[in-house]
Amino acid sequence: MKILTVHGSQDSDGNSARLLKASLEGIQAGGAEVQSININEYRITPVWKNYFGDVMKKQTDKVKDDMPVLKEKLLNADIILLATPVFWYQLPGTMKLFVDRWSDFINPDFSTELKGKGLALLSTHSGINLMNSSNILQSAMAGTAQFLGMIWMGGVDGRAHMKWEWDDEPSADEARLFGKKLAQGINLIGQKVL
Ligand SMILES: Cc1cc2nc3c(=O)[nH]c(=O)nc-3n(C[C@H](O)[C@H](O)[C@H](O)COP(=O)(O)O)c2cc1C
Repeated sequence: MKILTVHGSQDSDGNSARLLKASLEGIQAGGAEVQSININEYRITPVWKNYFGDVMKKQTDKVKDDMPVLKEKLLNADIILLATPVFWYQLPGTMKLFVDRWSDFINPDFSTELKGKGLALLSTHSGINLMNSSNILQSAMAGTAQFLGMIWMGGVDGRAHMKWEWDDEPSADEARLFGKKLAQGINLIGQKVL
């Protein structure tokens, strides 16, 4: 199994980094091949006027940015694991731009080159949960996976408060176990789907 992990925080020692680190331990224990990137290190152009017209004509690479490199990484992976803080119930800016540009993969018949790949999520939030931030983001990503023909593997919610109060071993344990499952093509609830 080839797994691409994509970290969405600027903080390499923050809450989502810690959840990702635990899942990587599981992924490695499960014997998968893994490549890890931080999306903030890449230049991604936001969608432009008549972007979708260019998508239909397969002309999105006329924009000069790092999407061709990122697309190669996506196409090379069996599972894409996003590890990210929740910002206002959604993905943070650069990660959102990245996922917006997955529309580049839509073909004129609405099939996509991401079809059959697994999509998984690790998300962290403030822990205050006036509304459940991770659930809202998980729904958005599960819907995105379905639209793109991907296989939704599930999401783990880091119930961290703030990193100086990190005591969220249950979430780290869950992420570690999830990583091990992903390495074997197994979704969060234990079904072998890949
Ligand atoms: C701009 C911004 C928006 C945020 N929005 C939410 C939110 O909607 N819900 C929430 O519970 N926490 C929210 N938070 C808190 C972060 O999700 C939380 O601190 C996260 O664990 C940070 O992850 P990191 O340490 O990996 O960067 C927000 C933080 C920032 C800076």
